[in-house]
Amino acid sequence: MKKKGLRSRLTSYGDEGFALYLRGAFLKSAGYDDSALDRPIVGIASTASDFNPCHATVPKLVEAVSRGIRDAGAIPFVFGTISLHESFIHPSTMILRNLMAMDTEEMIGRQPVDSVVLIGGCDKTVPAQIMGAISADMPAVMLVVGPTVTGRFEKERLGACSDCRRLWAAHRAGEIDDQQLADAHGRLVSSHGTCTIMGTASTMAAMAETLGLMLTGGTSIPAVHSERLRHAEAAGRRAAEMAIAGGPRPSEVVTAASLRNAATVLQALGGSTNCIIHLSAIAGRMGIPLDLEEVDRIGRETPVLIDVKPVGKNYMEDFHGAGGLPALMKRLGDRLDLTAPTVMGCTLGEALAKAPDWVDDKIIRPLADPIAPGEALCIVRGTLAPDGAVIKRAAASDALMRHAGPAMVFDSIDDLMARIDDPDLPVTRDHVLVLRNAGPVGAPGMPEAGGIPIPMKLARAGVKDMVRISDARMSGTASGSIVLHVSPEAAVGGPLALVRDGDMIEMDVSARRLDLLVDEGEMERRRAAWKPGPRAGRGYEKLYVDHVLQADRGCDFDFLQAESLQAPKA
Ligand code: FES
Ligand code: MG
Repeated sequence: MKKKGLRSRLTSYGDEGFALYLRGAFLKSAGYDDSALDRPIVGIASTASDFNPCHATVPKLVEAVSRGIRDAGAIPFVFGTISLHESFIHPSTMILRNLMAMDTEEMIGRQPVDSVVLIGGCDKTVPAQIMGAISADMPAVMLVVGPTVTGRFEKERLGACSDCRRLWAAHRAGEIDDQQLADAHGRLVSSHGTCTIMGTASTMAAMAETLGLMLTGGTSIPAVHSERLRHAEAAGRRAAEMAIAGGPRPSEVVTAASLRNAATVLQALGGSTNCIIHLSAIAGRMGIPLDLEEVDRIGRETPVLIDVKPVGKNYMEDFHGAGGLPALMKRLGDRLDLTAPTVMGCTLGEALAKAPDWVDDKIIRPLADPIAPGEALCIVRGTLAPDGAVIKRAAASDALMRHAGPAMVFDSIDDLMARIDDPDLPVTRDHVLVLRNAGPVGAPGMPEAGGIPIPMKLARAGVKDMVRISDARMSGTASGSIVLHVSPEAAVGGPLALVRDGDMIEMDVSARRLDLLVDEGEMERRRAAWKPGPRAGRGYEKLYVDHVLQADRGCDFDFLQAESLQAPKA
């Protein structure tokens, strides 16, 4: 066993002998003997929290990971970090993603560990942990809690959160009554784990696996399957080997090639729009800015192969049974750079070669018979979004992909909530609903308010979809003709701030255009009259609004990006 050179033996005092003597005294107080100081330490970042029901299995996973670490000759040390659940943070978990990334980076960077296993799952936790691990450049294995399994209600299968949204919309439209809504309630999230469909959590798990940071097959194993525990044990074993070997480090795993692979898999999954923001932030940590045009180009060339909600019909447990992410990546073949490295110490291609060959074509479709020929996630630009906006074409209505209509503007989320269901709202199905001041700075924290509800009176008249545009995000479990992440956002004076009711907005997704049809002279007059709103004056929220980057750059803090991307110091 290596003694000298273990990072976990580094101390902060001048007198190293004394510092280790002191640390040993405290380790003894925790019940360890002298050998503890000489063995590699693998940190386990636990995100167990009563406020995070998605992570309720974390204690069981910690046990399994610890077993694997001990088997391989290292010592597990469990520590807590911030944990984020989508339903319990106001106004949005996004505001705390960067704080969790900082927490993760600082705790793994400053504690005496030789490698880490990061246990994440719910939407923001996985990108936060990847961002932190990259910046600390600590050998790290990602482990997710895994998706929930479906429940049953009447004749249907139910899973969070696409079916939560579907039932809520059906209730708003008067299609189901109060009792049916209540009866289905307890079946929507039928087990511990992350949302049951290809929302942000599952898409980010897939990103971690594609980037080479997770053991093969870890994306889709349901949270409550015994296979999940065996996978966790293997993750612990591998992290111990990495602790002993001193790598590979994230900087040796996450490369421009693996980021391109991630964009390809994201498009083939018809994955969550949120992942474009998270991938931009991850790339920014590496000093490799994500080229949104390349993400769009990859989308044009990559068929959507997964028949899983919200784009398709099935659930994550079906995707797992069909072969999971390894089967999808094998399907994509040389569309991926199979020479990309992984934490397993082999290339992505070598890792996939060991995965089973069986695949269920109905759920992971052949390239020749895709769900959609491509363009799952598109980047649109134009006078309304000079720095780009995102639309999930795969979950939108074909009929609205070329549309011009008058704007109906909501100035804030509060304004939207106050007026959207007003029976006197002068809105028609041809209107373009615009929500602003819901971006990174404006809300602040860019909540998932972009899935603007269809106004009640139109919903009751059978309208299922309309063009909706905002500087907000949208849940990965939602669908509709919804343009998100408009950059720059209204709160920093982007053109979205200048739209008025009745202005014509034209969207042409095939041409990748989003334009406000107001002449430049009038826009100049409106721009001159525009004033920014008040901003937070203290605390983390002040740090956030002062330093958050726009959505096209991943909403990371400017000072957390790789130094090569930061503005030169004056
Ligand atoms: Fe946790 Fe959906 S709310 S994954
Ligand atoms: Mg979500």
